[in-house]
Amino acid sequence: MSNGKRNDFNLILLGGPGAGKGTQASKIVESMDLAHLSTGDILREEVSEGTDLGLEAREYMDRGDLVPDELIIEMVRKHLDRESGYLFDGFPRTISQAEALENVLEVDKVIYINISKEEAVRRLSARRVCSECGEIYNLQFDKPDEPGVCDKCNGELYQRSDDKPEVIRNRFETFLEQSAPLVGFYRDRGVLVEIDGEREPDAIFENIRAAIS
Ligand code: AP5
Repeated sequence: MSNGKRNDFNLILLGGPGAGKGTQASKIVESMDLAHLSTGDILREEVSEGTDLGLEAREYMDRGDLVPDELIIEMVRKHLDRESGYLFDGFPRTISQAEALENVLEVDKVIYINISKEEAVRRLSARRVCSECGEIYNLQFDKPDEPGVCDKCNGELYQRSDDKPEVIRNRFETFLEQSAPLVGFYRDRGVLVEIDGEREPDAIFENIRAAIS
């Protein structure tokens, strides 16, 4: 990974809400030529554009439930426009999604970033996101220089509608019930690396670099 950019690799970031998938994804794409595919970001775009998919997905997202597999699998299929070189963030989230992905490409590595529910609630209650470039901030650990304004592009920062304590708790339970089985699924395939997510973002990134180099 340190000698130039690679695009012959398919990487999955697996982890509950607030584990730091988006934070690490932006670091990874700076050093690897991977296409960042975040199903959460795509869904939020569909919601803000008011598409049929967005209207249907919104009710699940607002509750902190998963959007049905068939909608997600079809949506991801439409976004796959090269043979390899993907960084999947928030996908797959169920065994069915993982099996569908396995049918179209080989997964080289799965990084499971592990954090507790208490840490997830703490982080997400203080998260702010840039409405223009998607940069992620935290009012406790990673504040913007000027309140409400993105350091990178001067865009306006906003709080996600699903970052309310009761919804965060449901997202975490949903992760434990429906997505945690993926840890065993990918461990059985010999591609899983588990990382303690309750450390500094740079220390976590160093672990990821080591795991994929
Ligand atoms: P999605 O957008 O994927 O949300 P999520 O998985 O709940 O994850 P988050 O984006 O909340 O957290 P993150 O891990 O990216 O953390 P971040 O880096 O921002 O999905 C949203 C919804 O869409 C789902 O609930 C579901 O309804 C639907 N959906 C999406 N994909 C789906 C799928 N495949 N199938 C079905 N439904 C789907 O960091 C969080 C905060 O912590 C930030 O403030 C950050 O600054 C801070 N932070 C990050 N790392 C650290 C650190 N190491 N130390 C301290 N603070 C940190």
